[in-house]
Amino acid sequence: MKKNDSELFEKMHIAGKLAARTLDELTSFIKPGVTTNFLDKICYEYIKDHGGNSAPLYYKGFPKSCCTSTNHIVCHGIPSEKVLKDGDIMNVDVTAFVDEHHGDTGRMFCIGDVSVKSKNLISTTYESMMRAISIIKPGTKLGDIGATIQDYVESKGFSVVRDFCGHGIGTIFHKPPNVLHYGKKNSGISLECGMIFTIEPMINEGKYEIKILNDGWTAVTKDKTLSAQFEHTVGVTDKGFEIFTKSDKNFTQPPYLS
Ligand code: MF3
Ligand code: CO
Ligand code: CO
Repeated sequence: MKKNDSELFEKMHIAGKLAARTLDELTSFIKPGVTTNFLDKICYEYIKDHGGNSAPLYYKGFPKSCCTSTNHIVCHGIPSEKVLKDGDIMNVDVTAFVDEHHGDTGRMFCIGDVSVKSKNLISTTYESMMRAISIIKPGTKLGDIGATIQDYVESKGFSVVRDFCGHGIGTIFHKPPNVLHYGKKNSGISLECGMIFTIEPMINEGKYEIKILNDGWTAVTKDKTLSAQFEHTVGVTDKGFEIFTKSDKNFTQPPYLS
């Protein structure tokens, strides 16, 4: 790896680590009776206290520091006075901006006891992301990433959201390439050592269509079925890949036992 790449990777590692630690920190607060605004405040303060800023805050007018997407919300749920209740599932998506670099990551959380179908949707979404990450190395095609996710998810009877994708990331929050979570094997550009992007599949229990609510942000499933999402920021290395947003505590998917 070139010298410039290793300096960039080191900064991405620091930003990614803080984003992951923020989710680790939030984990113990996520339970029935808590508002998503409360979680947003913890996110804001934790990142500030650890030398960064929350990239979502005021990004294109987004009003909060993280996204909290419950149940049929696909992504970009806005923290509010909404109270979490037993049986809810929720994605929290955090982006830390540290030393001019972005670390972007999201996980699913279960509030109290959740249904078996919710657990299946969550574990399928996590597994689809990790299968896609596992094939990353120089020469892998971008389409292979999409196809890996789509094949796995559809084999489980769920669907891949088309309207949002992963993205290049670094000093800029969202930049090329678009990383689609569906597609054809052996299509698209070849990955090269030093590339950095997110993989963040949004998977619906029912059909893949979504709509955006009047707030201009909240994306929900059109058929009102559940949706799940995980996200990691990753870099392509000589040998394969590096995940910048890994949990120190091994909080990969719920239940998060320490
Ligand atoms: N973190 C989201 C992503 O994965 C982007 C959130 S932008 C916001 O790309 F403005 F909605 F916060
Ligand atoms: Co992202
Ligand atoms: Co994100």
